Amino acid sequence: MKNLKSLVLVGWAVALTASMQVSAEIGGVQSLRGAEELDSNNAAEEMKRIPRDRATFERDYLHQPPLIPHQVRGYQVDLNSNKCLSCHSWTNYKTSGATKVSLTHFDTRDGQQLSDVSPRRYFCMQCHVPQADAKPLVDNSFKSVDALSAD
Ligand code: HEC
Ligand code: HEC
Repeated sequence: MKNLKSLVLVGWAVALTASMQVSAEIGGVQSLRGAEELDSNNAAEEMKRIPRDRATFERDYLHQPPLIPHQVRGYQVDLNSNKCLSCHSWTNYKTSGATKVSLTHFDTRDGQQLSDVSPRRYFCMQCHVPQADAKPLVDNSFKSVDALSAD
């Protein structure tokens, strides 16, 4: 009985060491971008090119925050200023030629309408993002909802 117990223990220790070796070889984490050892760094991805200016994107579903069709690098949004609103606010959109923020952006979460953009809609890039020409990591068969698709 005692012998059997130590045999099981030895077997368990061997299996554990083997599995530790396997996970050390692939850094323990395998992802779509490959595997990297824990003690070395992945080469940084090249910065994606974001088109400087393009036509607006079609929307894919109702209430989708529209995608940003222009560069936004260096556009500051903080306590003192909001670069996005310098073109997209109701006071500035006419001169800038930008779409004005919609009425929903003035509503608080309790449905109260404010006279300026609601704090919950102040940090535009929580919801609106620019697009780069990047190869998808996985296939995607997503189709726009009927009401918005052209065909
Ligand atoms: C210098 C002016 C300017 C600034 C600053 C600016 N935009 Fe724009 N934006 C535009 C113009 C012009 C358009 C294009 C409108 C069109 O072609 O109909 C546009 C389009 C957009 C659209 C697409 C609207 C739609 O209906 O599809 C979004 C979303 C947007 N901008 C978000 C932002 C965000 C977020 C920021 C800040 C990070 C920002 N913009 C800063 C001028 C600006
Ligand atoms: C919490 C998410 C969220 C934030 C934050 C947000 N938006 Fe939006 N935005 C949306 C959604 C969702 C829509 C589409 C439905 C709607 O109009 O409410 C939209 C629509 C828009 C449109 C198109 C309006 C139209 O008439 O077609 C513009 C322009 C826009 N947002 C600009 C901005 C700017 C500029 C900011 C920052 C000041 C901002 N948004 C912050 C979610 C957001």
